[in-house]
Amino acid sequence: MSRTIFVTTALPYANGSFHIGHIMEYIQADIWVRSMRMSGHTVHFVGADDAHGAPIMLKAEAEGITPDQLVERIASERPRYLNGFHIKFDHWYRTNSPENKELSQNIYKELKAAGFIETRTIEQFYDPVKGMFLPDRYIKGECPSCKAKDQYGDSCEVCSSVYSPTDLINPYSTLTNATPVMRSSEHFFFRLSDPKCVAFLKEWTNGVDRHGNPRLQSEVLGKTREWLGKGEDGESNLNDWDISRDEPYFGTPIPDAPGKYFYVWLDAPVGYLASLKSYCAVKGMDFDALMDPNGDTEQVHFIGKDIVYFHALFWPAMLKFSGRKTPDSLNVHGFITVSGEKMSKSRGTGISPLRYLEIGMDAEWMRYYIAAKLNSHVEDMDFNPDDFIARVNSDLVGKYVNIASRAASFISKHFDGQLAYVGDTAEMQQNFTDTANTIRADLERREYGRAVRQIMALADQINQAFDNAKPWLLAKGIADASAEQKAELQDICSRALAGFKALSVMLSPILPQLSQKVASELFEMDRDFVWTDAAELPTRIAAFKHLLQRVEPAKLDELLAPPEAPVVEPGGEVIADTIDIKDFGKVDLRVAKIVNCTEVEGSDKLLCLTLDLDEGRHRQIFSGIKSAYKPEDLIGKLTVVVANLAPRKMRFGVSEGMVLAASHNDSKVNNGLFILEPHSGATPGMRIS
Ligand code: MSP
Ligand code: ZN
Repeated sequence: MSRTIFVTTALPYANGSFHIGHIMEYIQADIWVRSMRMSGHTVHFVGADDAHGAPIMLKAEAEGITPDQLVERIASERPRYLNGFHIKFDHWYRTNSPENKELSQNIYKELKAAGFIETRTIEQFYDPVKGMFLPDRYIKGECPSCKAKDQYGDSCEVCSSVYSPTDLINPYSTLTNATPVMRSSEHFFFRLSDPKCVAFLKEWTNGVDRHGNPRLQSEVLGKTREWLGKGEDGESNLNDWDISRDEPYFGTPIPDAPGKYFYVWLDAPVGYLASLKSYCAVKGMDFDALMDPNGDTEQVHFIGKDIVYFHALFWPAMLKFSGRKTPDSLNVHGFITVSGEKMSKSRGTGISPLRYLEIGMDAEWMRYYIAAKLNSHVEDMDFNPDDFIARVNSDLVGKYVNIASRAASFISKHFDGQLAYVGDTAEMQQNFTDTANTIRADLERREYGRAVRQIMALADQINQAFDNAKPWLLAKGIADASAEQKAELQDICSRALAGFKALSVMLSPILPQLSQKVASELFEMDRDFVWTDAAELPTRIAAFKHLLQRVEPAKLDELLAPPEAPVVEPGGEVIADTIDIKDFGKVDLRVAKIVNCTEVEGSDKLLCLTLDLDEGRHRQIFSGIKSAYKPEDLIGKLTVVVANLAPRKMRFGVSEGMVLAASHNDSKVNNGLFILEPHSGATPGMRIS
């Protein structure tokens, strides 16, 4: 039976570019969508920018542009990433749109009419200089427990104690440094604690979708049970939800409440509907029919583990009590880390998805790697460079692509592209059908890693059968071979290529571009693969063309290495923008002694320096100066390093700082690279200012 499915991913905040965590989420959803489409289901897959909220307002203000302009700029970057990684949303929209305003205001009015909105006067910190109420993240002060300075309003990074902003000692606004004052204001609340709401949420979270599968993963259900409390219907630990913010705020105005706006999380998920509505308008589809509460459309949200609260409690409740269709299921994923480290922009770790594409890495390597590591649980996954290289090179290229490149050459050379099978193929076809069905089911359950393992097990089988038959021996004597021998060679290769086709079908959701190429160029099909193609035996092939590159380990160094110094134009570089002494003071430059220096195996750019900064330990720094220096020329010398640069994990190890060098790519001397050396008399550890 053909299903209609409305699929979304979390709407990214429009105050920054995509990071690898976003891309991971989109790849997960995109694979699912493609697989469902291959089964013949209709899928509407939409995304949008989450435009509202204080951070976006303040960032735009700092840049001297309007929030709408900021959102517009960020939105204009999105296609490069999405197209680059073959992530095919049907529609991408934004929450600062007329559709979203109308929908969220309507939902609010309906909730209000149903008695779920309440007003209350609350006291909050207010920045008298900035003239605005302060979200917790803009308040800092001393930790009430350990007295550590500069701690955020919710918890202490030093002693981990949790408190509220009003507990801070000497609180200050991070926006103006002013001491915040308590001020009261009227807020709007969504009555989540209403017994009807609690009863509904208990039922909804414990429920199953229309196929009888649990709506929530077991670990997510565990969380919601904690939040909802174990008591009878109506009893719960839930608090009402504060859905309003006072001006100035970048958001949707609350109807009949001048100066009040919806808190960003109220209209953010409504953005799912706004995007679908805008897509319907483009396509001439009936939005209301699609979203009929009693209709057949399944509504599936892919999100990360940090926003479960909003999606498993607030969102279904908002929809339910405004008389709308509620979601069918939530698919929650864990976080991606890089080489075991949590991503953090400030520490500079992580992988830039744009850099990945710009240095010419293949998007499908990443899709395959992420798929291989994903399962249906809320587990974090680690991007490990060596693992990445191994999986792509040995599985994807070594096992999968290898089948086609070996078998196709015999077929093209000796049989003019014609495939033919000797004897019964039913067993082989059954095997392909069965495996394809297993893979299809695993992809639907989001057991991608298991699917990938089974696909590779089939690839192993196919390679083994090919190797055991030793077609190269038959091919050697082909000139004077009998008709049977020729037919045997053709059969061996045809079976391998039939297997390759089956594998390509199964890999299609993960490797959409490659499989499309296989379908059109190798098997000369005029459409993309669908699941039932797996057991359809191909009858001829076109000449085999190169399909997929191996990953060069050096590419990962390039990906993980700090960005290179900007290319210097001949004739000198323009002096950078003026900074003040405080900006300069942030850079801690130190004299360092190079106590050792070695080449780095596998890198043609880097040297590894062991440095003494008189810290009671030595530091290791990787520096891209191999083209200009031999290790022995540097050992024993003094140089200058940026000592407080965030450590950076590279494929070869952690680099703890940066060696300063003058460079000019126009210069032929020393390859245009000159590291700094202080005048004699300076000693390790001296600060440079
Ligand atoms: N704007 C909200 C979502 C509103 S949905 C109505 C938001 N935006 S976000 O940009 O911070 O995050 C978007 C998605 O990226 C979330 O699902 C989040 O879990 C996911 N990820 C953020 N960091 C991630 C990783 N390191 N790894 C995987 N996913 C991560 O939250
Ligand atoms: Zn503390």
